[in-house]
Amino acid sequence: VKPDPQLVALCPVADVAPGGSLRVLVGSHALAVFNVDGCLHVTDDTCTHGLSSLAEGDLDGRVVTCPWHGGAFDVTNGEPVAAPCTVALRTYPSQVRDGALLAVLAAPQVIG
Ligand code: FES
Repeated sequence: VKPDPQLVALCPVADVAPGGSLRVLVGSHALAVFNVDGCLHVTDDTCTHGLSSLAEGDLDGRVVTCPWHGGAFDVTNGEPVAAPCTVALRTYPSQVRDGALLAVLAAPQVIG
C-alpha cells in the first residue's frame, strides 16, 4: 500500500471509547474525535456558534451537545440539529490503520 501524504495520524483508536470523545490538536487546528457505537468520526472541535470545544460536550448516540449554549450537531455529517447552531460543522474522512486513526484534513491540491 502506498503511503497517502494527505493522511494525518490523530490518535490510537483505543484512546476513544464508545460514547466518548477526544480533542486532538494538529498544529493549531483543533479536531474532535467521536466514537459512535464503535465507529470513529472526525470533526472540527470548535463549535460553529462560538469558541467552545465540542469534544467537551455530551455525546448521545450521534449527537454532541455543545457545553456553552446547548446547541447540537450530528457528528457523522456535521449537520446542526439544535439551536442556536445553524452552521454545519466541518467533518473529515478518516480510516483506521494498524490501530491508529488517520484523517484526511486537506482537500487535494488541484494542479494545472
Ligand atoms: Fe456552541 Fe454556542 S458556542 S452553542
